[in-house]
Amino acid sequence: MEQNPRENPGAPTRKYVVAMHTNIENKVAVVTGASRGIGYSIAQALLENGASVVIGSRNEKEIEAAAEALRSHSGGHVAAAPMDVRDYKQVERFIASAEREFGGIDILVNNAGIGLFSPVDELAPEQWDAVIQTNLSGPFYCIRAAVPVMKRRGGGYIFNISSLAGKNAFAGGAAYNASKFGLNGFSEAAMLDLRYENIRVSYIMPGTVETSFGRSGAANKTSSWKIGSQDVAQVVIDLLRSDPRVMLSRVEMRPSKPPR
Ligand SMILES: NC(=O)c1ccc[n+]([C@@H]2O[C@H](COP(=O)([O-])OP(=O)(O)OC[C@H]3O[C@@H](n4cnc5c(N)ncnc54)[C@H](OP(=O)(O)O)[C@@H]3O)[C@@H](O)[C@H]2O)c1
Repeated sequence: MEQNPRENPGAPTRKYVVAMHTNIENKVAVVTGASRGIGYSIAQALLENGASVVIGSRNEKEIEAAAEALRSHSGGHVAAAPMDVRDYKQVERFIASAEREFGGIDILVNNAGIGLFSPVDELAPEQWDAVIQTNLSGPFYCIRAAVPVMKRRGGGYIFNISSLAGKNAFAGGAAYNASKFGLNGFSEAAMLDLRYENIRVSYIMPGTVETSFGRSGAANKTSSWKIGSQDVAQVVIDLLRSDPRVMLSRVEMRPSKPPR
């Protein structure tokens, strides 16, 4: 589609649809927390758009099963490894395995996250540590380990999956809110540090997404008003397809019609 010069006389005409797939096909992507939920959908969308994907999460059986399901669904290149984003040595090994398997890393999706909710005066210090280490230190560890690999490729794209809880505090959310508010600030600083390395950083802030998040693995009640994990995945794809000249640094996503 070309701009109608009559709407903006003198403006150069330009194509609005950049070549599809150029920013995803044959790229190598790493997605943390991809055994289920949002991470799984993001991995699936990346595969369907032609990327090779490495997925990681703690439970070995579940991450292997996720890789198998992704492989049989998409027929694409998928590798899986158990890893804990709270442990920098494990993160380093995970990132090195991705480089070994597929020759580099172009896309990093920091998705792994947990939610432990409790009034601040009842929150155990161990719960606080687990949330902050998973949701905030984890993305730092992954970026710290992956950026040198991305630089060797000449650039890349990093996504941090934050939350609307990163701007709206709520009772019982002390640790989760702190981790996601922190992730937003961290993402913006990282974006400024990495922009001249041709590495774009975006953080996505979904509202309620239909996953088993915060439910100890139990299935969440199906509600048609909730954002789908595939909707978050679509945002990742759309941002990857955006012109490299543009930095869509922060995306807020909310259900269009939550219960009144
Ligand atoms: N669902 C929502 O309503 C919602 C809304 C906004 C933002 N988010 C964010 O979206 C992200 C994904 O959430 P989700 O709803 O898809 O959750 P989910 O269904 O519970 O999936 C979480 C994933 O993260 C992995 N994980 C947890 N701790 C980990 C660790 N220390 N190291 C590596 N992997 C770990 C889990 O596997 P293991 O347990 O096997 O490690 C699982 O694969 C989170 O960052 C969350 O904060 C969710």
